[in-house]
Amino acid sequence: MKQFSGRTAVITGAASGIGLELARRAAAEGMNLVLADIEYARLEESAATLGLPAERLLLQRTDVSREAEIAALAEAAFARFGGVHLLCNNAGVGLTRVTWEHSTADWEWVLGVNLWSVIHGIQHFLPKMLEQGDEGHIVNTSSVAGLLSTPGMAAYNVSKHGVVTLSETLYGELLAAKAKVGVSVLCPAWVPTGIHQSSRNRQDRFGSAAPAAGLSAAYEERMGQAVKSGRLTAADMASEVFAAVGEGRFYVIPHRKINNAIQLRTDDIMNLRNPTPLA
Ligand SMILES: NC(=O)c1ccc[n+]([C@@H]2O[C@H](COP(=O)([O-])OP(=O)(O)OC[C@H]3O[C@@H](n4cnc5c(N)ncnc54)[C@H](O)[C@@H]3O)[C@@H](O)[C@H]2O)c1
Repeated sequence: MKQFSGRTAVITGAASGIGLELARRAAAEGMNLVLADIEYARLEESAATLGLPAERLLLQRTDVSREAEIAALAEAAFARFGGVHLLCNNAGVGLTRVTWEHSTADWEWVLGVNLWSVIHGIQHFLPKMLEQGDEGHIVNTSSVAGLLSTPGMAAYNVSKHGVVTLSETLYGELLAAKAKVGVSVLCPAWVPTGIHQSSRNRQDRFGSAAPAAGLSAAYEERMGQAVKSGRLTAADMASEVFAAVGEGRFYVIPHRKINNAIQLRTDDIMNLRNPTPLA
């Protein structure tokens, strides 16, 4: 996708972190913005920092794990701006526990927000984006957790691997269909955002996670520290995304140091070797 100015971007999870920086960059590119988040008060505060005139902005409280709310977001976006050109399926949550301490509600929450949201985003936006006949692009936020299997994050890893394979599948299909809409997958490592405090947004219907103890507590502590010490920023992620969309590049993997771990996993598979533990 070459032209951003005057076109419309829809960004989920836009109240904070990477989503907010995607919004800031899209605003700077001259796009109209449809910003969605479950934390509406914070979304309003964050959107105010973008300095956009009201006619270029639509805010919608959206729980991305609910299909009806994604459908309503799509309807509102197309009704307000007449088209959608860039869709960033970005909202996400993290949970750190050993696999055997994930409850069914833990799995449903993480898969609902991180994976079903992307599935529903594609279902409700893409057919209309294809119909409108303009160039367009979908960016799905996965993670290096979609390329590796870090211990202590089973539901998160499963959700993010799901986003990678969903995006790869879609890429091949859009190519075969000679579509004017492209797709990229964003796979960051640690970025200092609010992701380690995801439980703030856990909907009542999922209850709360059992307190972490033992190994789960150690993984939780390590994940919090890793997020806070991330060297690349959310703004760096937005720059990488916009460069990739402009070039039509699929994989957006800003932390290149992670290549060694991806290579090691690939070598383990190719050599039928047991998985090398990740540090
Ligand atoms: N920060 C990292 O280290 C990192 C690394 C890899 C991938 N990611 C991914 O980046 C994406 C953005 O996360 P972030 O790091 O900016 O964290 P963040 O917590 O700062 O932002 C996530 C946003 O998603 C929103 N959200 C949560 N549940 C929602 C729901 N049900 N419906 C709608 N919105 C909801 C939150 O309110 C928040 O505004 C996520 O998909 C995350 O998995 C983050």
